[in-house]
Amino acid sequence: MAEPKSAELMEKIVSLCKRRGFIFQSSEIYGGLNGFWDYGPLGAELKRNIKECWWRAMTRLRDDIVGLDASIIMHPKIWEASGHTSTFSDLMVDCLLTKKRFRADQVEPQAGIVYYYSGVQEDSYNYFLHSKELKDAIPSWEEEVAREGQERRSAALESLVVKHLLVSEDPAKQKLGKSFLDASKGERMQPISYAVLLLPGKPPESARKIATQYYQERGFVHPKLLGERTEKVENSRCFNPENGSLLTEPAPFNLMFKTYVGPQAVPPLDFDPADDPEEWEYWAKAFRENERNVAYLRPETAQAIFAQFKNLLDTARQKVPFGVCQIGKAFRNEINPRNYTFRSREFEQMELEFFIRPDEAVEAIYGRVTSPTGPGHPGEPQPSWGWQTWHQYWVEERLRFYESIGLPRNSLVEYWQKPDELAHYARATVDILYKFPFSKRDEKGELMGEELEGVAARSDFDLSQHQRFSGKPMTVFDEELKAAWPKLDEAKKAALSQRYLEARRTYLAKAGEAADKAEKQAREDAEALAKGYYIPHVIEPSAGVDRLALALICNAYCEDQAPDEKGNLESRVVMKLHPRIAPITVAIFPLLKNKPELVEKAKTVRDLLRPHMAVFYDEAGAIGRRYRRQDEAGTPFGVTIDFDTLGEKGPELKDTVTLRERDSMKQERVKIGELVPLLLQKIR
Ligand code: GAP
Repeated sequence: MAEPKSAELMEKIVSLCKRRGFIFQSSEIYGGLNGFWDYGPLGAELKRNIKECWWRAMTRLRDDIVGLDASIIMHPKIWEASGHTSTFSDLMVDCLLTKKRFRADQVEPQAGIVYYYSGVQEDSYNYFLHSKELKDAIPSWEEEVAREGQERRSAALESLVVKHLLVSEDPAKQKLGKSFLDASKGERMQPISYAVLLLPGKPPESARKIATQYYQERGFVHPKLLGERTEKVENSRCFNPENGSLLTEPAPFNLMFKTYVGPQAVPPLDFDPADDPEEWEYWAKAFRENERNVAYLRPETAQAIFAQFKNLLDTARQKVPFGVCQIGKAFRNEINPRNYTFRSREFEQMELEFFIRPDEAVEAIYGRVTSPTGPGHPGEPQPSWGWQTWHQYWVEERLRFYESIGLPRNSLVEYWQKPDELAHYARATVDILYKFPFSKRDEKGELMGEELEGVAARSDFDLSQHQRFSGKPMTVFDEELKAAWPKLDEAKKAALSQRYLEARRTYLAKAGEAADKAEKQAREDAEALAKGYYIPHVIEPSAGVDRLALALICNAYCEDQAPDEKGNLESRVVMKLHPRIAPITVAIFPLLKNKPELVEKAKTVRDLLRPHMAVFYDEAGAIGRRYRRQDEAGTPFGVTIDFDTLGEKGPELKDTVTLRERDSMKQERVKIGELVPLLLQKIR
């Protein structure tokens, strides 16, 4: 659990985001929609700046990456090939009592005493016999029944109930009478087992109370618990940590949003299948037809890059190694959206697929494969790099990117997934984590971080899958490889062929191909390699825009002291967003709004800066208050136009303004003509 301080901090951040127009709950006026968020004026600019910085770093500042903007809904076969249809699911458990759903891996292990129950018996009749309600409603019932004798006891009681309760004018008495007669129809015993975990020190009554509630939920009015037994457990994930109730067995839930392409047949709202079986047959057929048109909102942007690989290769004038990147919406029907925007159901991704040669091709061409010599950035890309060096390169590039937009290195964690955490096709994955205030803490109390981005070395899995499912070749022809291969000695050729063959055979076997077919295909692939053909491998840095926006917001939030109008220190909230991503770069303030010369000059400065950066003009309120508003909006610079600007204190200050820096609150005098280059230098 996050510490209370962190929870308090998150509350302040959420409140500021709403107050200043960074983030709103989606559909708020209708009570909101869990897992969906809207970005207000400042949030929209922030996200835009994040995406622009990423796009610039990936494409404009490089020669080897091109962009793609693909559709959100794609052919459903894509998701079969990628594995999303069959495996994009979370294992979920439901609380048997409250029906609340949890991700199975997020249930904290617990220790305590488990109270097991083998079944339940409906005990209403017994209950009524001893209930106060019965005594109050028919005070003399016991004597009257006793007068009838033992064998007439039940019948006598029933006729009393009818006489005194069921035919009464009082609805409460009628209800009581009806329940009694229902209960007297017989006691049901059912072997429905259940269990409750009690934490050490809790009395057994707590478990019985929860079990009773559980059976009541299942229709037992006065459940009698049967077969109670206890057992001590440790590290159990079978119980709801909130109430101790038994959870269901984990079951997979697919996370893709399903939709239909084309208008769908829907029966009239008042249609009842029982009225017209023939019409029902028509609708059943229509439903089956609908199912043939199923499509999904993409759960990641990456697959479009693989599906369009051939078109991209044919048009982009690029050769392996090269990359294709994309920014766009992705949708996941997350079971448990949480931590503000961190886990949402609709979000944006920024993904790069960087295609590289298989190591066997690199070795054939360059005689060796360069592996990383140690931690850190391996430097400018070299043609002899193998997948490990490329992978490390992209991890380091991404870390540098985060630093360049204001996330300090010590707020980030580089987490190398352990072999048992890796997807079966991945050779290595590094998760870049940010230490969000709600992150878990380690035993030393340090924030451990939550995922911002994954950088995965995915081998040739994705393109191979699309080759198998579409039947279209995803191979590239590499002239350098073709030219290099005949020059290799026979032993080298054999070794490289064998390695490649084994890798392809392993992939094909894992993909479910029969052994003989896998062997044949792998041999053909190895022969193709010798002729210069292969399926490229890929390194995939995949980041979330919304998570990054949240990390930047959390990182920027700061409370410090600032002087008020009279120079007294007061506390201020300031968003220390990096100038590159701040929603507003510079705010323009005329010192007084009722001095037309000041206003006119301020508007001239605004119009001068506007083509180059995001500018906000503000003339309302005392200057201190205006500064404070911009501090909360994260505006790094403020330009104040005062009487000196007009030259009232002498010609040397004419056409100069005060440039205020948000974080240090330092103010310097700058010539209006120098503002554009000075500020551009800080935001580029
Ligand atoms: N193509 C690989 C892929 O999609 P991922 O780790 O599932 O990998 C990549 O997602 C990034 O997308 C994550 O690191 C995260 O930043 C973002 N992301 C994933 N699920 C998200 C969610 N439910 N809400 C917000 N961002 C999410």
